[in-house]
Amino acid sequence: CGIVGCIGTNNAAEALIDSLERLEYRGYDSAGVALVSSGELNVIKSKGRIFRLKDKMSSKIFSRTGIGHTRWATHGSPSDINAHPHTDCTGKIAVVHNGIIENYQELKNMLISRGHRFVSETDTEVLAHLIEEHYVGDTKLALREAISEVEGSYAIAVVNRDEPDKIFAARKDSPMVIGLGENNYYLASDVTAFVKHTRNAIFLHDGDMAVLTNNGVSITDFLDNPVMREVTLVEWDIEAAEKCGYDHFMLKEIHEQPKSLKDVMSGRLNEFTGDVELKEMTLTRAEIGSLKRVIIIACGTSYHAGMMGKYAIESVTDIPVSVEIGSEFRYSSNRVGPETLIIAISQSGETADTVAAIKDARKKGSNVIAITNVVGSTISREADSTIYMRTGPEIGVAATKTFTGQIAVIYMIALYLGRARGNISPEDARSIISEMKSLSQKSKLVLEKEEYIANIARMFVNAPSFFFVGRNLNFPAALEGALKLKEISYIYSEGFAAGELKHGPLALLTTNIPVVAIATRCPTYDKMVSNIKEIKARDASVIAIASECDNKISQFVDLVIKIPDAGEYASPVLSSIALQLFAYYVARFRGCPIDKPRNLAKSVTVE
Ligand code: G6P
Repeated sequence: CGIVGCIGTNNAAEALIDSLERLEYRGYDSAGVALVSSGELNVIKSKGRIFRLKDKMSSKIFSRTGIGHTRWATHGSPSDINAHPHTDCTGKIAVVHNGIIENYQELKNMLISRGHRFVSETDTEVLAHLIEEHYVGDTKLALREAISEVEGSYAIAVVNRDEPDKIFAARKDSPMVIGLGENNYYLASDVTAFVKHTRNAIFLHDGDMAVLTNNGVSITDFLDNPVMREVTLVEWDIEAAEKCGYDHFMLKEIHEQPKSLKDVMSGRLNEFTGDVELKEMTLTRAEIGSLKRVIIIACGTSYHAGMMGKYAIESVTDIPVSVEIGSEFRYSSNRVGPETLIIAISQSGETADTVAAIKDARKKGSNVIAITNVVGSTISREADSTIYMRTGPEIGVAATKTFTGQIAVIYMIALYLGRARGNISPEDARSIISEMKSLSQKSKLVLEKEEYIANIARMFVNAPSFFFVGRNLNFPAALEGALKLKEISYIYSEGFAAGELKHGPLALLTTNIPVVAIATRCPTYDKMVSNIKEIKARDASVIAIASECDNKISQFVDLVIKIPDAGEYASPVLSSIALQLFAYYVARFRGCPIDKPRNLAKSVTVE
């Protein structure tokens, strides 16, 4: 979900809608605003996308203070009533909330017994009534008392008709950032919401409360002790968060990869010495030397980057690596300790499952390195060190440039560990570094094939389902290719290790299930060709992703998408870019809402 708030602007309604539209990728099943103006509180809400809310707000409400919310349902179905903001019985207090109130049922029962009437099925409504219950003329105090009774995670923003020039906020385990304008102040789940107005931001920490007024911002802890938080300058501007002529953010972000791949490596890789400079790493050489294992924790697309990380780290170091899904790791009996290095990968830096997993591991003494794209995100604060991908904001829900950025970072970490432990020679490291550095240029060559890939995509818009297969580093690339396609085109697609087809999936194969086979030149190429023959023997269509130099593959398959010749580390990155374009065009020809696929959100802050 996304929270916004603004105070001091001339037209809060307009500013809130603009901010909500920018946060729509966080959730978009319903939205609403609460505007405070001359003794009145106006709450307007609507099921569906933000433009529906905008339609409802046609009559102008003058207000200088307001809060808003775009929702991704967790409690209660998407509806006008369940949309935020929620209000108390008197209709003077309005609350927006991101997160989950775990003890909401208990609190709700207590509040009902004290005469409160509830209208929605949400956990958030409890907060509005709880604040009302404690309110005796001081909203901040009432909010403090309310959250002392609440269990769960939250970023909360509150307005009160009786204190019209203030927005009250509190954060625990859910992101919230304040934007400092000249005479106006903003509150949001992330900076994208207000970067148009200001690049000066304060990232609230867990346990912070804030009061925004026309004259400034004051931050305290939950016991009302003042706390100092530094002002961070956001390094990118609004251009980076707009479509700039592309039809979709996803397409823009796919095309940004030559630059983002360059930026992520800039100043970090030395082609002459074979050294990797990751100043952010806090581990000493001795600590790296005593590591016994690495566990990579991630979800979704980031998990696939993690799988690539496993191959890379195990190839250039002598450390065993496992990759765990955040939500599974947390509830497993994993015995980790100081000898285990945890690498958490999360583009948003907010995925609740991943955050919970690393908190757990740190408690047990493991060092945690985070790979994320979002400065000031929760993961960056929970980890011992954070390596940023520097890819700029990614707005499309389907991860593209952050995926390739994650792979670049995990490869760098692999080399860093391998060099520190003396497992890889400077020569071998130099060769991997030059391969990585070629990615920016080679990704441009993949993008030049856009029209060709679009034409292939057009042939398959009606396919009922798809298989994606690969081996070794191309296996996670196949999983990611399948995930991209299912996320945005809604075609059922699965990725398989090519060698596993014969152990089950072949039973599903029919002539109308196309198979994308990643068969680039690499040590497993011949095995991959054998797997392709197994598939062709069942008369399925095969689209191969192959190396430019491969003149033989076309005789075994139906269609070939050639990518530049590249080493085994760079090649899956290039294949992934080709598959991003493929998924994009299949979805586009099917008329799907590419940047905001149904039921998905970019940042999932609930477990
Ligand atoms: C959501 C997004 C995915 C993403 C996953 C993990 O489901 O839609 O694109 O891969 O979360 O997100 P993270 O921010 O942790 O990488």
